[in-house]
Amino acid sequence: MTQDKHITWHDSVVTKLERQQRHQHKSAIIWFTGLSGSGKSTISVALEKALFDRGIHTYRLDGDNIRHGLNQNLGFSPEDRKENIRRIGEVSKLMVDAGVLTVTAFISPYTSDRENVRAIVEDKEFIEVYTRCSLEACEQRDPKGLYQKARKGEIPEFTGISAPYEAPKNPEIIIDTEFNSVETSVSQIINYLEQHHYI
Ligand code: ADX
Repeated sequence: MTQDKHITWHDSVVTKLERQQRHQHKSAIIWFTGLSGSGKSTISVALEKALFDRGIHTYRLDGDNIRHGLNQNLGFSPEDRKENIRRIGEVSKLMVDAGVLTVTAFISPYTSDRENVRAIVEDKEFIEVYTRCSLEACEQRDPKGLYQKARKGEIPEFTGISAPYEAPKNPEIIIDTEFNSVETSVSQIINYLEQHHYI
């Protein structure tokens, strides 16, 4: 890790608060966590669209997409997942500073990695959304056929099969994707954002 002592922080003269005031909504990270196939991507896509249609400045970061670019050098060992989440946390923090209501969809299986992200932003800027769905249901859906491969041993360290998933103990929002529709889940999150005066 570079520990360059010759770097200096330069503040902008435009503040986060001014950006939020111009956008007329708060900025924060809506952080989805859950098993592969639990609905993180699907619901986050629908949520981003619903927010965008309301005129909100929003942007979505998704695990599979980010791993094509920024994080293409990372795999799925605990160390690489930690670095994956650390980078996403830093990118999300920048987006919050830019006044954007940021939606992220990563398995983010380790509590400590998620809590590290919570710790680098301000209070109320990290909204943890747990897409709760049993492993059995995720495995039955298996939208990408990955569980089947993981069961055959073709994908090592697969979350839920051969790697752990630590469910959040006290998330801001739990959505039961096993029993609720995408629309219901999106409404639940929008209601939360309204009730807590983010939008
Ligand atoms: S995380 O654990 O580091 O947060 P991330 O959300 O970026 O994971 O990527 C998960 C996606 O990568 C899954 O949706 C799946 O498509 C794919 N994937 C490939 N290998 C694995 C694996 N070993 N465990 C989990 N997901 C995997």
